[in-house]
Amino acid sequence: MPEVRIREVGPRDGLQAEAYIEVGARVALIADLIRSGVHTIEAVSFVSEKAVPAMAGAAAVLESLGPLPGVTIYALVPNVKGAARAAECGIDHFTVTVSASAAYNAKNVRMTIDESVAEVAAIRDLIGPSPYVDAVVSCAFGSPYEGDLAPADVHALGERLVSAGANASTYADTTGMATPRRIADLVAVTGPRIGLHLHETRGTAMVNAYAALELGVRDFDTSIGGLGGSPFAAGAGGNLSTEDFVHLLDDVGLSTGIDLEQLLTAAARLATVLGRPLPGKVANAGPRSRLAAG
Ligand code: COA
Ligand code: ZN
Repeated sequence: MPEVRIREVGPRDGLQAEAYIEVGARVALIADLIRSGVHTIEAVSFVSEKAVPAMAGAAAVLESLGPLPGVTIYALVPNVKGAARAAECGIDHFTVTVSASAAYNAKNVRMTIDESVAEVAAIRDLIGPSPYVDAVVSCAFGSPYEGDLAPADVHALGERLVSAGANASTYADTTGMATPRRIADLVAVTGPRIGLHLHETRGTAMVNAYAALELGVRDFDTSIGGLGGSPFAAGAGGNLSTEDFVHLLDDVGLSTGIDLEQLLTAAARLATVLGRPLPGKVANAGPRSRLAAG
């Protein structure tokens, strides 16, 4: 069992704000990630194709992947309709997106927070007791619309979502407003058994992850190449880069089960598909263990 559990969100969060990429290239990315030792992947979202054109073709991606023994595939869903479509494709791990910011929730999923909580209960009714549901609380460290949100209120929403039928909560810094002290403020309320989903919008994703590690948090969402961002978060920077985080974790001696060199190969292939360098740092500089020629 790895000491730090990474859920790779590149194929979903990483690609959702990009121009549409065909199913074959998305499947190849997921296969590359699995080859690197990544065993938990948010692969698709079942959302409106009008709202997020890049995520069209979720069913085709899953069908083309086929059964993947030992790999946990998550699908993001905003509502019962999305969950029903995902369940039809055999999905048994769901991330449900709900925002701690009422204004962001309205823009992102067109629901009030109470409606989203009710939607989690309805999703649980639909899928039955066995599937795993992770409630991802977005804007958990502040909202571009409402400003700072009290950690106690953010935690209370996470708890409400668990009471409504989620198995766990992940707290997402959707718009890059977290800082180490705000990570500490939230973990002081929630305890360390939470997931964190961090964005690099203001250059703080890695220091936030490190602060969380020191507080005992062990579950992180990251994205290959540091790609990503919500189409509904203006100026959203990418996610914490998987390879940058694995590079750091290797150095501090916390295992992930992921092979950094293979991951760098995957990142290089993705950069070719997208036709530009990705924001991740280690992919561009090379790992510290790789010596310069001559
Ligand atoms: N997947 C696909 N289509 C969906 C859907 C889903 N999960 N939920 C609703 N729809 C369809 C409806 O069937 C309807 O289709 P029609 O126009 O052909 O009749 C249409 O979308 C509008 O339905 P409605 O319930 O009125 O939805 P909406 O317009 O209020 O949009 C969401 C709500 C949730 C579907 C939309 O806001 C969305 O997909 N948001 C996702 C945002 C996202 O992925 N953000 C990034 C990740 S956090
Ligand atoms: Zn994100």
